Amino acid sequence: MASASQIFPLFEEDPFSEAALADSVPVFRRLRELGPVAYLPELGIYAISHYDAVAAGLRLDSTLVSGQGVSFNVNLNGEAAPRFATPITSDGETHRRLKKLEMRPLMPVALAGLRERIEQLATQTVRKLATGQTFEAMAGLASVIPTSIVVELVGLKGVGAQRMLAWSEAIFNANGPATVPRTNEGVPVLMDLASYSATLTREGVEPGSWADRILDAADSGEITAPEAQGLIIDYVVPSLDTTILATGELLFQLASLPGSLDLVREKPAMIPGIIDEAVRLASPIRGFTRFVASDYEVGGGVIPAGSRVVLLFASANRDERHYPEPDRFLPERGPRDHLGWGLGVHSCTGRHLARLEMETLLACLAQEIETIEFDEPARLINNSLQGFRSLPMRLRARKN
Ligand code: HEM
Repeated sequence: MASASQIFPLFEEDPFSEAALADSVPVFRRLRELGPVAYLPELGIYAISHYDAVAAGLRLDSTLVSGQGVSFNVNLNGEAAPRFATPITSDGETHRRLKKLEMRPLMPVALAGLRERIEQLATQTVRKLATGQTFEAMAGLASVIPTSIVVELVGLKGVGAQRMLAWSEAIFNANGPATVPRTNEGVPVLMDLASYSATLTREGVEPGSWADRILDAADSGEITAPEAQGLIIDYVVPSLDTTILATGELLFQLASLPGSLDLVREKPAMIPGIIDEAVRLASPIRGFTRFVASDYEVGGGVIPAGSRVVLLFASANRDERHYPEPDRFLPERGPRDHLGWGLGVHSCTGRHLARLEMETLLACLAQEIETIEFDEPARLINNSLQGFRSLPMRLRARKN
């Protein structure tokens, strides 16, 4: 009898080579050509790449579970995993309870009061940059709102606040396969954040911040100490780079499409849809893995219980079966169903905040800027994240 992996086509390319990490688009296109599921023999994992199959897999959270880890790295999954409890690596009732707490400050109603501050910061930043001189837009523009406002909302003081970005990038690397050196360089950084969050006290957090509320919940007995540690980690790791990379893609696409800001000025109601289109194309998180809890029928075969699959958000978002001309930025597409934020019970807790940051910046650019130009960008090399490492740009102010 053929083994289950033989039922599915084999994909022999290395998705963690520098070239593949710098540009996943052609690699995932070749993967999709093989069918909805392919087996990666070097990594011993099934890759799910078509839109329909990724969406179905994300919905089936009792078969494709997160509680055994969502990493490629065997040392971060299952029994080997460090002993803290993050919502992203939990299932069922534990996940529901932790996510409810985690989401409280991230619901649209809780974020409403932030809009004005974000608008002020965006306007001040954009006006300062609108000189026609070249600047580096990832550090100089895309990062500004997350690294000031979001860092403050999380509420870690001193080194905690300073290290957030470096922690995040390294920990997204730690999610790669244990056979890749970049992965193993990230693991001690995860341990550094784990010990920081395990010893965090009131002195280390801003009163009223998200981190402070987690300490309140631990003090009242609503959550355990490892859960508090995990919730802090879940706030720190995904809250900055993801939004920065999606914003970089937005800036790049606006600069590449003639008349893009005129369009936003004429039809401001398109702003939310344009943000969705930018997040679809950016897909800052390529994919996360799941443990297969029971035999999983998909793509004409069965993935056996005990296997690991990767659900590739980035591939699904460029699936030509689902999106016509998937590699084009079409402002009118407004793809509300894209999988860049995930889907189902684990869908992104921070998406309302990320959307608020990006929508406000886009409205501000339309208000202040006539033209955006860019020079040759450089791509990020990271095991889980994708986007621009640097993006030289010029902004010219509108004449009033
Ligand atoms: C454009 C920006 C963002 C993108 C593209 C993004 C993407 C994602 C994706 C794909 C997932 C699903 C993970 C899975 O299914 O395993 C996710 C989950 C999550 N995101 Fe985001 N994210 C963004 C911004 C943020 C922000 C700003 C925060 C925090 C303030 C955040 C916090 C989280 C958390 C805590 C989870 C885990 C949710 C759960 O397991 O239930 N994200 N995000």
